[in-house]
Amino acid sequence: MTQLSTKHLLGIKDITATDIQLIFETADQFIDVINRPIKKVPSLRDTTIVNLFFENSTRTRISFELAERRLSADIVNFSASASSVTKGETLLDTVNNILAMKVDMVVMRHPAPGAPHYLAQRIDANIVNAGDGTHEHPTQALLDAFSIRRKLGKVEGKKIAIFGDILHSRVALSNIYCLKKLGAEVTVCGPPTLIPKYIESLGVHVSYDIKETLNWCDVANVLRIQMERQDIKYIPSLREYTQYFGINRPLLDSLKKEIVIMHPGPINRGVEITSEVADSGHSIILDQVENGVAIRMAVLYLLSARR
Ligand code: CP
Repeated sequence: MTQLSTKHLLGIKDITATDIQLIFETADQFIDVINRPIKKVPSLRDTTIVNLFFENSTRTRISFELAERRLSADIVNFSASASSVTKGETLLDTVNNILAMKVDMVVMRHPAPGAPHYLAQRIDANIVNAGDGTHEHPTQALLDAFSIRRKLGKVEGKKIAIFGDILHSRVALSNIYCLKKLGAEVTVCGPPTLIPKYIESLGVHVSYDIKETLNWCDVANVLRIQMERQDIKYIPSLREYTQYFGINRPLLDSLKKEIVIMHPGPINRGVEITSEVADSGHSIILDQVENGVAIRMAVLYLLSARR
């Protein structure tokens, strides 16, 4: 197969394992490109992409922008706080005005779950979801699984544990869909209040025991506590969270094996993970960031073929 089954990347739920493998094989080639002295290819010359960010971002925004530049696309960057959204303009009006200026693809981060799906039903451009509220963050899941594949050779059959605030995490949901489609075993681990009740219906195990889960897994993907989404008090205090669910060096030293440490960022150092662990030789956190550019190049390149 040389084409994606979809015109948009709205979520991992909507794509197939074959789509994911095609994205990985394409990203393998772009890894070679971005490690060359001349890091640019002309693949998206004459394609105009708008990056619509209605919510803050460091990694995803810069990674998409670099991916677009490496593919020679024309880019427009939009930040909601500096736009007419602050005067009451709707999402659809904002996007239609931008599209009237002949934009081909939209990369969008929005605090409302489903915002990119709403747009996809109303406009012609390809849409890439760069994170919609607590729903999905598909390119993060793709770069996470791609990083596991590069580190361990494959994802199928690997034991992956996702730690922390599963309830509010779009990264967790997209990772679960992606890893299950690729044949991994997945456990989520955290305080009961931060684990959604329906989660086992997605085919994952649930554990509240951090040490047992660390001993089980090949890879620990550590998520941050999303303070900005804690509408009620889910945990007594950050100090207690760190005491019971924080990942630190003595805990890793007490295991019977070595495991790979991941984190999507931004890190709350000293809360869900200590600096000693985040910066250790077992951590592939910066590899995830590096691989993210190649994954986003692959997604944009493959979606552009569906225009
Ligand atoms: N991982 C991630 O989405 O980071 P940003 O919020 O900085 O984009």
